[in-house]
Amino acid sequence: MDLNRLRDDLAEKDPDLFSALTLEEDRQRKGLELIPSENYCFPEVLPLLGSAFTNKYSEGYPGRRYYGGQPNTDTIETLARERACELFRAEHANVQPLSGSPMNQAVYLGLLEPGDTILAMDLSHGGHLTHGAPVSHMGRLFNFVRYKTIGAQGDIDYDVLEETAIKERPKLIVCGHSSYPREVNYARFQVIADKVGALTMADVSHVGGLIAGDALQNPLDHGFDVMTTTTHKSLRGPRGGLILCKTKHAKAIDASVFPGLQGGPHMNQIAATALTLKLAAAPDFRNYARAVLANAQALAQSLRDHQVRLVTGGTENHLLVIDTVESFGMDGRRAQEVLDRIELTTNKQVIPDDPNPPMRPSGLRLGTPAPTARGMGEADMAIVGRLIASALRSPEDETHLAGLEAEVSALTARFPVPGL
Ligand SMILES: Cc1ncc(COP(=O)(O)O)c(C=O)c1O
Repeated sequence: MDLNRLRDDLAEKDPDLFSALTLEEDRQRKGLELIPSENYCFPEVLPLLGSAFTNKYSEGYPGRRYYGGQPNTDTIETLARERACELFRAEHANVQPLSGSPMNQAVYLGLLEPGDTILAMDLSHGGHLTHGAPVSHMGRLFNFVRYKTIGAQGDIDYDVLEETAIKERPKLIVCGHSSYPREVNYARFQVIADKVGALTMADVSHVGGLIAGDALQNPLDHGFDVMTTTTHKSLRGPRGGLILCKTKHAKAIDASVFPGLQGGPHMNQIAATALTLKLAAAPDFRNYARAVLANAQALAQSLRDHQVRLVTGGTENHLLVIDTVESFGMDGRRAQEVLDRIELTTNKQVIPDDPNPPMRPSGLRLGTPAPTARGMGEADMAIVGRLIASALRSPEDETHLAGLEAEVSALTARFPVPGL
């Protein structure tokens, strides 16, 4: 397949679409992606997403499909499942979830009955929408109760967690997060769950790649029943979800994904996941995972040096949350817009017990998986910290912002985007 030829064809056949594509590529090259849930997937993965596997319907599982013509799809799905089990030391893997949200929904619907109680992290303290936000369907189907981050450092207070578990008697305890900058004490979660007879689920969507690279702890090593992760964040794969669980839950989880929740799996995505899991098992990926953490530390230090207040005071993973109201007297939306102006892409974020609404929250979320995938190091993160603080201190000074934008362009020009 001549990709350049196909691009020329697209330019001719659909100039509007082609223009949006090239503008997006330019945006990604020129700017710096600091949203912690985003990354550049491995360049080797991109061709598989556009491969012949996208043509194939494969409802069912390897060896048990509803349609014919499956020898090659069975091969790739089996490879993906085996690689996932090996990489994450899991007994069983389901690689079919189309993304992170159906992945979590499939676990709840497979292991619980509607109305059952689930104990999960409060959303403003770092939990994800799929951990029972009232606006989500899961929030309506199950009885979610909450724990918060009220420890001395703004970390989870495990004693309060235990008291809540004893009081509420949940069927499932969920840990994992979208904006919690601390490592999780999985062992303590498991002890608490055992005490109240609850199942355990860790949604490690954000840190899946860091666990794969052995830079952070693996909840499955602490006896968790289920671990879920998206494949497109720190793992650097295609968009998708993975469910890893104990053998005793395999049947219920598989039936919940298909036919319970989804139809035909996206086999191009599963091929890309299989390759991602191979690349994530290589020694280079361990270096990447460690560099992501080192870069997060360097960015946190630089921000603190510039008198920026970080929620929990710092980070133990790849993400940081800035209290923009306290640090700069502006809400997170305004801060995001100012940083967009200098081509630093971030996202507004609620902070624990935020008095402000989600569209105008008090914080901003940053992460280092994407800059690290571009090859940036700790010295570059020190520059990024300075640029952020400088822009947010002079949000109205157009000349100053233009100078900072030029600095961002000079920085990103030294680090090509993988695959572009
Ligand atoms: C912790 C967590 N779980 C689940 C998801 C959902 O993933 P998706 O957006 O692919 O549905 C996300 C996405 O940001 C997440 O951060």
